[in-house]
Amino acid sequence: MTSFTAPVKVPLHLAIIMDGNSRWAETKGLLRDEGHRTGAKHVRTIAEACADEGVRYLSLFAFSTENWQRPRDEVDFLIQLIGETLDNELHELVKRETKVQFIGERSRFPSRIQKKMWECETETSNYDKLFLTIALNYGGRWDLTNATREIAQAVQQGYLQPDEIDESVIGSYLATRNLPAPDLCIRTGGDRRISNFLLWDFAYTEFYFADCFWPAFTTDELQGALREYAHRQRRFGGRRELNPNPTLVESN
Ligand code: IPE
Ligand code: IPE
Ligand code: MG
Repeated sequence: MTSFTAPVKVPLHLAIIMDGNSRWAETKGLLRDEGHRTGAKHVRTIAEACADEGVRYLSLFAFSTENWQRPRDEVDFLIQLIGETLDNELHELVKRETKVQFIGERSRFPSRIQKKMWECETETSNYDKLFLTIALNYGGRWDLTNATREIAQAVQQGYLQPDEIDESVIGSYLATRNLPAPDLCIRTGGDRRISNFLLWDFAYTEFYFADCFWPAFTTDELQGALREYAHRQRRFGGRRELNPNPTLVESN
């Protein structure tokens, strides 16, 4: 007999706030740097699992505009780690046909790191299995401030009329302009806050807070988050779930 089941709802765009590296290291009696190093290595495992689960867009918060306030030695280590990770992971990203882009104000990074970012974007620009966005020196307020400045310039130069500014125009000036709004955001590390990640884009995003620290966030826990998401009813301010994807697939 043929049975029919509705397809599982997978987030098209998943955002992750990868928090808890330092506390993970502390609980293991390790130095903080080891927490960051393990956290950076862990990105590959989770990114691959996301692609295998059918996520098309993955956005990772790796370094915020506020993270510069940390002690100098930690910031220096994180910058060095970003460079090493880009060097080590490029071949794997190419192998997995992952397209990479960086969002954030990159001019504050040393030029050798900026160069690695451009290389990584250029070398992966033709892939489309997974679209990986890495937020480095990114802040939602930075993004909105930048967009506002550019919109003001466009108005001043006569390319744009003030009454033409609507939500889609604002969205088109953001660093996330080429991404759909995130469907789900996972934050590891036990805190329940956005910490200045995708402020505009998160308007109707679902949230999943994991108590474990990022280096200990397993693929099982990822699958648990995706399962929970699949049961969330999203109403977007309306009465019923929009875009319920009523297609039935044959499963026998
Ligand atoms: C997240 O780990 C990585 C960055 C913010 C760069 P943390 O270093 O914030 O770890 P906790 O949250 O202090 O444990
Ligand atoms: C959020 O973590 C930023 C990143 C994961 C890059 P933080 O550790 O910086 O956030 P707060 O300070 O706990 O809000
Ligand atoms: Mg933290």
